[in-house]
Amino acid sequence: MKDRIKVAVIGCGNIGCGAHIPAYMASDKADIKYFCDIIPEKADACVKKYGCGTAVYDYKQILDDPELDAVSVCTHNDMHSVISIDFMRHGKDVLCEKPAARILSEALEMESVSYETGRILSIGVCNRYSNAVNHIKKLIDDGVLGEVFHVYASFRAYRSIPGLGGDFTNKAVSGGGALIDWGVHYLDLVEYVCGDPKPLTVSGEAFSKLGVDMKNYVYTRMWSEDTKDLSGVYDVDDSVTGLIRTTGPVITFNGAWAQNIGEEGTFIDFMGDKGGIRHDYLGGFTLYTVKDGMLCTTKPDFVKNDLHRDEVLDFVECVCKGERNRNDIKNAVLTSKIMQAVYDSSETHSEVRIH
Ligand SMILES: NC(=O)c1ccc[n+]([C@@H]2O[C@H](COP(=O)([O-])OP(=O)(O)OC[C@H]3O[C@@H](n4cnc5c(N)ncnc54)[C@H](O)[C@@H]3O)[C@@H](O)[C@H]2O)c1
Repeated sequence: MKDRIKVAVIGCGNIGCGAHIPAYMASDKADIKYFCDIIPEKADACVKKYGCGTAVYDYKQILDDPELDAVSVCTHNDMHSVISIDFMRHGKDVLCEKPAARILSEALEMESVSYETGRILSIGVCNRYSNAVNHIKKLIDDGVLGEVFHVYASFRAYRSIPGLGGDFTNKAVSGGGALIDWGVHYLDLVEYVCGDPKPLTVSGEAFSKLGVDMKNYVYTRMWSEDTKDLSGVYDVDDSVTGLIRTTGPVITFNGAWAQNIGEEGTFIDFMGDKGGIRHDYLGGFTLYTVKDGMLCTTKPDFVKNDLHRDEVLDFVECVCKGERNRNDIKNAVLTSKIMQAVYDSSETHSEVRIH
């Protein structure tokens, strides 16, 4: 058991600076020793802003530092497995952003190195730390919904592709589009709430329709616009649908970074034989039950928390104790299996059986 740990943040971009660094700064058990980014100004700016740590521009320079206990990997998806595996092989624990990796084989390698080296590998599926999600999980565990037989996830936006032609829309970098970027959070949340059931069969279709003609793509707002590069690549899914049979409920989903329907929908419906819950993603939830011959609709109120912060603080605790947590790679691999099967199913237009 350690009282304090030294950490490094690899990738000082949106999520590194917006979530991981502030959380480590707020922790009374972690000190940031290194800020690392291949763009030197980004690492330098962090040292200046936070008044601590050293800027490094190549993560390999710090692999052998015996003082370093753990790292956050906040780079784009193509480097998740490479960097995480390097640090684990050098005796460091890792919190790697979602998705674990671009393809299943990378995620499986990360899992096997984590268990072979005994290093903690947590994946940034932060909804596992949401108070709303944990209240829903408890209601389901307590049997309030009865048997949850079907879960439907909707992660649909109007026209909202991130950074056309940048890292998000280049399959070689990202591994995929709406499914791997947004769907990963929804599928992981469903897996967590339902007790991490094993996926059995998957049928899916992924469409790349609206963004392919990048120059003529019309939109009113685009997140990650600063990475837009109209001379770049667009070869990922901008919408996706699927059906997953599991050892628990059947999961169905519709997702879209971009669709020609103006109404957006970001929610998850948990449907049981005694009750149901609609979870407004990143928000609260509504519980539908039957009591004494009456239909009851309840909108519980509770404290909303900062998921990213609580995720990082729990990672620090786990590194101090040397224990794995609920974001362990073993659980994240289930979602990787599902997403890989959706893409495979889409390519062959047939159902995929997961072993
Ligand atoms: N958990 C969440 O809700 C959430 C939210 C946003 C992003 N993310 C994930 O975080 C990751 C990063 O996304 P982002 O939006 O912060 O991207 P970003 O482009 O803003 O930041 C990535 C940073 O990594 C740096 N980088 C790239 N290769 C590097 C290397 N080899 N060594 C060191 N630094 C390197 C880049 O220069 C950049 O500054 C993605 O995997 C994304 O899916 C997760």
